Amino acid sequence: MVIHEKTISLKDGRTCLLRTPQEKDAPLLLNYLQTMSAETIYVLSYPDDTFPSLNEEISFIKSIRASFNRCMVSAFVDGELAGTAQIRRHTKIKTRHRADFGIGLLQKFCGLGLGGKILDELISMAIDLGCEVLELEVIQGNHQAIALYEKKGFVRFAQREKGIRLKDGTYLSEVLMRKDLIV
Ligand SMILES: CC(C)(COP(=O)(O)OP(=O)(O)OC[C@H]1O[C@@H](n2cnc3c(N)ncnc32)[C@H](O)[C@@H]1OP(=O)(O)O)[C@@H](O)C(=O)NCCC(=O)NCCS
Repeated sequence: MVIHEKTISLKDGRTCLLRTPQEKDAPLLLNYLQTMSAETIYVLSYPDDTFPSLNEEISFIKSIRASFNRCMVSAFVDGELAGTAQIRRHTKIKTRHRADFGIGLLQKFCGLGLGGKILDELISMAIDLGCEVLELEVIQGNHQAIALYEKKGFVRFAQREKGIRLKDGTYLSEVLMRKDLIV
């Protein structure tokens, strides 16, 4: 699925372009994934995990653009890829009322209101897709993310104990959150 391009304002006065990634963005996306995984423990990858090859990333972008159930938003500030988000609607008859999403920004673009604006887009997208519930998983201790989700109406409904095991052996839970889109 491809979104209509949109320009939004950040708290520091800069503008940000939101659009679906194109094939030419594949190297930028791979670089962003590597950088973000080194900046925070609150994403699933470590920098030394296996990342897609350039060709795999190009195929992924093509498949996302062609999909009826998945969409990706990339955020560009001054031409730099600041972050991305993905939403995926389930496809089975019994579960297609639900969608889940993931979001991540590079550290220098956090705290500027960008996460909130991208999340607003994802919520609208899920409603347009006819979804009734939007879900996500967030790692225990990610206070900024949890504050954002709660502000947008998400509630915690379960916790997956030991969902995450860090390299030093520390276990963290994953918090499962949900927003009902039909009230
Ligand atoms: C989580 C993330 C998407 C949030 O996006 P963001 O643009 O930084 O968030 P916003 O600027 O929209 O702020 C959201 C709210 O969080 C709260 N907040 C900000 N910093 C906070 C902090 N350090 N602790 C607690 N709450 C905080 C504020 O209430 C803020 O709302 P406000 O702007 O109305 O005051 C972003 O920080 C990020 O990508 N982090 C790294 C990767 C990650 O954790 N991804 C999420 C995985 S589930």
